[in-house]
Amino acid sequence: MSGEGTSQPARTAADLDGLSDEELTHLGAGLDGVRILEREHRFAPGSKAERRAERLVAGCFVIAFLSVVGFIAVYLFYPWRFSLADQRYFLYTPLLGLTMGLALLAVGAGIVLWGKLLMPHETAVQDRHDGFSDETDRRTIAATFRDSLEMTGLARRSLLRRSLFLGSGALGLMAVVPLGGLVKNPWAKKELLGTPWKAGMRLVRLDGVAVRPEDLRPGGMETVFPDVPGGRHAPDGPVMLIRLYPDVTRRPRAGQADYSWGSYVAFSKICTHVGCPTSLYEQQTNKILCPCHQSQFDATRDAKPIFGPATRSLPMLPITVDSEGFFVARSDFREPIGPAFWERRNYD
Ligand code: FES
Repeated sequence: MSGEGTSQPARTAADLDGLSDEELTHLGAGLDGVRILEREHRFAPGSKAERRAERLVAGCFVIAFLSVVGFIAVYLFYPWRFSLADQRYFLYTPLLGLTMGLALLAVGAGIVLWGKLLMPHETAVQDRHDGFSDETDRRTIAATFRDSLEMTGLARRSLLRRSLFLGSGALGLMAVVPLGGLVKNPWAKKELLGTPWKAGMRLVRLDGVAVRPEDLRPGGMETVFPDVPGGRHAPDGPVMLIRLYPDVTRRPRAGQADYSWGSYVAFSKICTHVGCPTSLYEQQTNKILCPCHQSQFDATRDAKPIFGPATRSLPMLPITVDSEGFFVARSDFREPIGPAFWERRNYD
């Protein structure tokens, strides 16, 4: 079908009211110098082939919906916490990625197949020109949009319309549901304000063996953990137990004079800068070193920062020795461990 060209007489609003959307579309194409060379349906409307294509497209959108349901189910119910007893947490992130990827892929495939199989094939040629749009142009453009919508079949193909809303609407849910995990009160369980350490809890090594004073030589250091299930994997649990040389004079922070046991002191191993493990103890200088950004802490002054970006002392764990001769904590840390949310000195 060819366009009418731009030389035709202007039409009144009454003339335009009498034209169908398709006629207005062709009129608008002609006014813009557009020639529609070819426009045909791939399948006869209502034919078996068309219904088959429709079901194929709808199937894609249903798959998208089911994938989103799977994504939400994984997000809400699949075990994601680290556990030695249950290794399924390894699959948590891959499953989220798989279901999300499948949902996006299915919606994309559905839209592509819709365009390829159900939209009429059309070839049109248009000259580019500048200029202000008049009333006729605007009316015909609006009609073009309505006609295009009609061509998609959205209005009459209720199966496709519903399945499209089902699949793409579910995609929106996929973006919204994970936000629920952010809406939680961090203060409710005071998880951020305490660690697994409790009064009377033994200090154990990585192999689970409790530590006694004679296990450390003067100038020695041992990394210890709270003796509770999972304590060796608790991110806020590691502690450096240090035995100072006998001739070293400790200068405690205010309120911490009785936190040591003899020449033994225990500090959180989580750096107060940005949380690296402060694993290095230099026995000649009594300095604790953080390898990440070279912060240094003075073990004789209750791990006061003396160099580098850390500005807060490493929290000190009050310790003593129980009746069987093993080191135990006298309480939890009295201040938050790790980087400062943390800028608070004390949460008592
Ligand atoms: S994390 Fe320790 S110095 Fe930066």
